[in-house]
Amino acid sequence: MRLGTGWLPLLPYPMPNPKSSTHVRFAAVGDLHVQKESAGALRGFFAQADDEADALLLCGDLTDYGTEEEARILAEELGAVHIPVVAVLGNHDYESGTPEVVVGTLTQAGVRVLDGSVCEIEGVGIAGVKGFGGGFGRGSLGAWGEPAIKLFVQEALNEAMKLESALAKLRTRHRIALLHYSPVIGTVQGEPVEIFPFLGSSRLEAPLLRYPMDAVFHGHAHRGALESRTINGVPVYNVAKPLLQRSHPDRPPFFLYEVQREPLEEPAAT
Ligand SMILES: [Fe+2]
Ligand SMILES: [Fe+2]
Repeated sequence: MRLGTGWLPLLPYPMPNPKSSTHVRFAAVGDLHVQKESAGALRGFFAQADDEADALLLCGDLTDYGTEEEARILAEELGAVHIPVVAVLGNHDYESGTPEVVVGTLTQAGVRVLDGSVCEIEGVGIAGVKGFGGGFGRGSLGAWGEPAIKLFVQEALNEAMKLESALAKLRTRHRIALLHYSPVIGTVQGEPVEIFPFLGSSRLEAPLLRYPMDAVFHGHAHRGALESRTINGVPVYNVAKPLLQRSHPDRPPFFLYEVQREPLEEPAAT
């Protein structure tokens, strides 16, 4: 684990000092599953995130069916947020076959939607990709046999390659990865074991081992576990909203995570 980072689930809530001058604070949540009926229901939640964090990270399944209407409702609800919003799509955002409409609507509203791309928030680099399934460790599906199996595995490999090339672009000291699917088995524990292969893929873990990472956030496993680690010790947080609501029913369902701010450089003596 890298110095200067930490998670805040056990701090008293609400926190006495919402914003910090020494740390960049992220509010992370996935699986909002915005529907028609969500209009007006998320503004208060987003306003709280806006009060308490320096940026909002959304880990996919932003909408329930990936429709333009749902994306527009989410964009309107995000009107309560003035801090930067960074997102990746989830599988639900593809359901209507027009993920580009979801991306376009949210981008117009100022959301940075990452898909193998990066952004930087106050010196912290963020690489984002949806990811894909395929299973974990020895249970990973191999690209062997029927073309449909090979296509399935190729999708996971493509997402892993996108993550790797995004991470390679970052030059920041601190790095965060934003995913929808899990890169490790630890944070899907709690789900029925029969569906583990559809919740993530170890292929997504490989790029995370090649770069110094602060943390990884994902969603998708609504009944999974809040925290695990990659095999080299990087914390992985499952921030699916239903899981956060169950884990901490006394506080708003976003996960707060801090990264120490870089000290300002002294002006050179003349
Ligand atoms: Fe979901
Ligand atoms: Fe999902």
